[in-house]
Amino acid sequence: MSHRQLAAAGVTVSFGRREVLRGADLIIPRGQRLALLGGNGSGKTTLLRTLAGSVRPSAGRVLVDGVGVDYGRTGLRNHRQVVQLVAQNPDDQLFAADVFRDVSFGPLNLGLSEPEVRRRVADALAVLSIEDLAERPIHELSHGQRKRVAIAGALAMQPCLMLLDEPAAGLDPQGVDEMVAALERLLQAHTTVVISTHDVDFALWWADSVAVLVEGRVRHGQPGDLLSDAELVAAARLRQPLVLQAAGALGLEARHVRDVSGLVAAVRAGRGLDAPATELRNNEPTALLRTGR
Ligand SMILES: Nc1ncnc2c1ncn2[C@@H]1O[C@H](COP(=O)(O)OP(=O)(O)O)[C@@H](O)[C@H]1O
Ligand SMILES: [Mg+2]
Repeated sequence: MSHRQLAAAGVTVSFGRREVLRGADLIIPRGQRLALLGGNGSGKTTLLRTLAGSVRPSAGRVLVDGVGVDYGRTGLRNHRQVVQLVAQNPDDQLFAADVFRDVSFGPLNLGLSEPEVRRRVADALAVLSIEDLAERPIHELSHGQRKRVAIAGALAMQPCLMLLDEPAAGLDPQGVDEMVAALERLLQAHTTVVISTHDVDFALWWADSVAVLVEGRVRHGQPGDLLSDAELVAAARLRQPLVLQAAGALGLEARHVRDVSGLVAAVRAGRGLDAPATELRNNEPTALLRTGR
C-alpha cells in the first residue's frame, strides 16, 4: 500500500440551509495518526464522508495527490480503493450472513480471483485478530467484535487511507486497547489512519497530529499545541486534556506531556529527580500498549 496524499481544499457542505463545513482545508499527513476532533454536530462525520467521496461538496474539492475526485461511477470506484471509511455504527456497514462473506464482499466486487479474495480476507482478519470469527454469523457477535469486522471489511480493500468514525466509541477499556493495537498494525502496513473522536485525552495520547473542527473550518497542528489552547478547545466544544490541565496546575511546561507517565516524568524532572527512561519511552503508543498503559 503506497502512500497517497488526501486533502480537502475549501470544502463547503450544507444540509438545507445549514452550512456544516465552510471552506474546510486539510492536508492529511501520509502514514501517520490523525485525530479529527470536534463537539457533537461539529461536522466530523460529514468531513469524513466528504473525504471518502460519499458526500459531494457544494464548493471546494477533495484531492488525491493533487487531483480532484471524479464523482462518476468509475471515479468513485477508484477513490474507494484509495480511501475507505468505517462507519461509527458497524450495523450500518455489515449486511452479509457471516464474517467471511462480509469481509470478502468488497474484494469480490473488485473482480479479484477467489484465492486472492481468500488471501485478503485472511490478512484483514489477522490484522484485527479475529481469525477465529470467520465462520460466525454477524448477529451473534458483540458490538466490539462487529466493529472489528467492519474495519476488516474496509481493510480487505487494501486502501492507502483508513478513515474511522469514532472507532473507540462504545468500547470498554480493553476493547479500546485492542482497537488501538489493530490501528498500530494498520500503520505498520503503511496505511494512513484518520479517526474522529471528541475524546481529547485519547487524541493527545494517540495522534501524531490533530484536526480540530470549529464552525465548519479545520485547525490542524500538533496535539499538544492545539489542545492546550483554551480558546480553541472552548470554541470547538471540547476541553483541555486532563494531563495538560494537571501540568498547567503544577506550573509545568505542558507541550510535551501526552499521558500520565509523561506527566510523572515531567514532575520528577522538575524536582531534579532523574526520570526513568522507561517512563519517558511510555509516551510512545506502542510502548504504552506493551506496558498496559
Ligand atoms: N444527511 C444529513 N442530512 C441533514 N443534516 C445532516 C446530515 N448529516 C449531518 N447533518 C447535520 O450536520 C451537522 C453535523 O453533523 P455530523 O457531521 O454528523 O457531526 P459530528 O459527526 O461531528 O457529530 C449536524 O447538525 C447534523 O444534524
Ligand atoms: Mg459523527
